[in-house]
Amino acid sequence: MILVTGGAGFIGANFVLQWIEDAQTPVVNLDKLTYAGNLNNLASLEHETRHHFIQGDILNKSLLEEVLAKYKPQAIVHFAAETHVDRSIYHPHDFFQTNVMGTQVLLDSALAYWKHLGRSEQNSFRFLHVSTDEVYGSIGPNEAPTKESSPYAPNSPYAASKAASDYAVRSYFHTYGLPVLTTHSSNNFGPYQFPEKLLPLMIVKALQRKPLPLYGDGLNIRSWIYVSDHCEALRLILAKGKPGETYNIADQEEHTNKEIVLDLCSILDEFKGSSSEAPFASLIKYVKDRPGHDRRYSIDASKLHKEIGWKPRKSFKENLRYTVQWYLENLQWVENVISGEYRDWITTNYYDRETIP
Ligand code: NAD
Ligand code: TYD
Repeated sequence: MILVTGGAGFIGANFVLQWIEDAQTPVVNLDKLTYAGNLNNLASLEHETRHHFIQGDILNKSLLEEVLAKYKPQAIVHFAAETHVDRSIYHPHDFFQTNVMGTQVLLDSALAYWKHLGRSEQNSFRFLHVSTDEVYGSIGPNEAPTKESSPYAPNSPYAASKAASDYAVRSYFHTYGLPVLTTHSSNNFGPYQFPEKLLPLMIVKALQRKPLPLYGDGLNIRSWIYVSDHCEALRLILAKGKPGETYNIADQEEHTNKEIVLDLCSILDEFKGSSSEAPFASLIKYVKDRPGHDRRYSIDASKLHKEIGWKPRKSFKENLRYTVQWYLENLQWVENVISGEYRDWITTNYYDRETIP
């Protein structure tokens, strides 16, 4: 049995689906079901006896104690977080509350549980903290990719809250001996991603024939990883990672936002284009930039390749194409998440972003 937090969100749900499909041990999935949590992501597990879903908050210590005592997990994989940089600019408090305090409460509960395990169970127990490359901050155009040993320089409230949670996790290893692992992944894409993040947002807007808002000059660079490759890396790290260590997870695929959106538009032209309408790329609009927008992320994942033996399965292009196809084939899923709350967010984030000529 493993405990997954945030397993109804984008990466967490992909992880749970992959874990169950590979017939590993059962999963208890604790998720608060914020706007980003969606049980439709787990619909295929409705009758799956190896999946136990509990709606709950990682800030609820007594609930965590109950869950740990009842299910006795051999590992905790911690995804639960507030995750969207733009939202963190509007509501930083929620990010520090869940990402920092929530992680600390989870660590405390895990530690109390771990202390009462037998010696061999203590040795094999793992607390895997899923973090981000954004903690390293923005790097220059000619700078080498960031390594696990690179200094932290978080710039958004989201990145700062994740950095603080990483330090909390680290301290529970050094102070109490809790066997923790921390990972820093680059930007994920793939099925079940909430359409506030770049790729699904652009797909949804393109299908509505609405403007595709690129922030600033569109030349900010992100490193991209397909979500199921990320999930496989996490499983390998859980099995082979060394307690106390951190691992970068990335596919070495760096692209400007403009490149990504142009690629996406060509795929959409192929699948949905018509001779009577202009190509999707004509919908691209440059809009007012995000404050504190990190220019470039690039991380070095050679430690993961060498020590853990992970490599991505398919090319970025193949995964991008499949992702677009997935959204086109799952329009009902999209319809369900474009709720009133989603529309409120779109108004909040985009209403005063005047177009840059
Ligand atoms: P997401 O926003 O899609 O999902 C987050 C999940 O956490 C949701 O299901 C939500 O309901 C749940 N949650 C939020 N607050 C909670 C609380 N207090 N208690 C219990 N559950 C709560 O996020 P995601 O993109 O799947 O990211 C998962 C993890 O991976 C996060 O920790 C994030 O920082 C990290 N990460 C994400 C990316 C990315 O590109 N998406 C990259 C690197 C790291
Ligand atoms: P996002 O998916 O929000 O992830 P992150 O900020 O964590 O990297 O954004 C990815 C990139 O796309 C980032 O440089 C901001 C940019 N972006 C836009 O240009 N327009 C948009 O509407 C959004 C949501 C993001």
